[in-house]
Amino acid sequence: MYQLSLPLDTTEKTDGAIDYQARLVAALSSDLDFHQDDSSYASHNFHSFPAKFPPQLPRRFIEALTEVGDIVLDPMMGSGTTVVEAALLQRHAIGLDIDPLATHIARTKVTHLDTARLLDVGNGILRNASEALAQRHTELAAALEARWDTKTKEFVDYWFARQTQLELLALAQQIEAIQEPDVRKFFELAFSAIIITKSGGVSLALDLAHTRPHRAKRVTDEVGNIIILDQLSRGSSRNLSFLTKSLRSPLVEFSKRFRQNLQGVSQMALATRTPLIAFGDAQCMPLRDGTVDLIVTSPPYAANAIDYMRAHKFSMVWLHRSVTELGEKRKDYIGGESVSNSGLLPLPEYSAEIVAAISRQDRRKGLVLHRYYSEMTLVLAEMWRVLKPGRAAIVVVGSSTMRGQDTMTDLCLADIGRSLGFAVPRIAVRNLDRNRRMMPAGAKLDPGSQIQKRMHEEYIIGFLKPS
Ligand SMILES: C[S@@+](CC[C@H](N)C(=O)[O-])C[C@H]1O[C@@H](n2cnc3c(N)ncnc32)[C@H](O)[C@@H]1O
Repeated sequence: MYQLSLPLDTTEKTDGAIDYQARLVAALSSDLDFHQDDSSYASHNFHSFPAKFPPQLPRRFIEALTEVGDIVLDPMMGSGTTVVEAALLQRHAIGLDIDPLATHIARTKVTHLDTARLLDVGNGILRNASEALAQRHTELAAALEARWDTKTKEFVDYWFARQTQLELLALAQQIEAIQEPDVRKFFELAFSAIIITKSGGVSLALDLAHTRPHRAKRVTDEVGNIIILDQLSRGSSRNLSFLTKSLRSPLVEFSKRFRQNLQGVSQMALATRTPLIAFGDAQCMPLRDGTVDLIVTSPPYAANAIDYMRAHKFSMVWLHRSVTELGEKRKDYIGGESVSNSGLLPLPEYSAEIVAAISRQDRRKGLVLHRYYSEMTLVLAEMWRVLKPGRAAIVVVGSSTMRGQDTMTDLCLADIGRSLGFAVPRIAVRNLDRNRRMMPAGAKLDPGSQIQKRMHEEYIIGFLKPS
């Protein structure tokens, strides 16, 4: 049974520091579930993203702990929820991520664009793409053959129906021809958003939320005809409804999606300070010491429970990336599965014990977890370095299981943070709303199981750098 009570921070404090810590604890003690709140305002819904947190969560801490003009950082920003909220609250926002789709999404969400121009360009894309499909079919089919290397082409052929491929290519060609980079990026994102959704969008994937996507065995086309894709194994027909997907037209989906995103663009005009979005590693941040007022972030889960690249390559291959290039990037993500003894750091006592307990069951899994906590040691050390004294980092994590054992991610990160000099005045717990999020674990919950209960919770750790 784990213990949530933590040692109190007993260092001597000024009135300002006492007030700041009280505000931090009050924010951590407030209701952080936000299940009933609308999270689709401004540009938040431009594109789905695994384990995206509700915008109200960073907003709560930004409002409680910073002033207009302060610097708010998310070093693992994903789709940029913190960055968008900080910008809407007139803070200077900085976002870093090593995932190319994440930086693309976040940058587009905060770019000021002319909505009339976007509408014009969007209508032009649809008109020209429809014309190409009707009049230049042979040319499009030849371009499909020539577009990728063999491995990437195999991936595209496996995951996209032929008609879908033709429509996607017709759209992609129009988007590629846009001259203004920011306008082009806006449409690339709307294009990507029709492929990467929890249910696999216009691809043949049945879901992209879990670690490994499944491919539909049969699809129904727009008029309800059934197309069998794979030979069905004996007995599987009972479950056929689970393996069936209706094929939606990329042109129709793109039209809906870019118009929806246009609404968000106009709301983002309220944000007057342009955030700094950069490709960067949270373990080695390109930022000066003692400059940041607040960090709000959520790292990947331990043990690669969400494989970002596995989902992202579904749209990235259409944006001129090869599966080989994308696959190589996977090793740089925090929480990756590849391990060696190099890069493993000594851990404080509690975290070392958790790693040792998992190593006794499975040496390799122990190494994977040790790697994760070593990476997070570097991230927390960097957070300490860039934060101003007396300021906080809010880290939102879920725990994982390995060989049936809880990785105790919340308590281990708090343990590591304290070993680096942070005070940890409180860890808050929030329940996950799995219907609304792309999450790794399944939706079923056994109420009697403590470990399962933990997998359906998220922990919000408040780290305080003493003044
Ligand atoms: C849980 S997601 C963040 C989701 C985000 N809070 C949102 O609302 O969209 C974790 C992010 O960490 C990023 N990441 C993984 N390793 C990283 C590293 N070494 N440096 C920076 N970001 C990294 C992943 O690419 C992913 O976007």
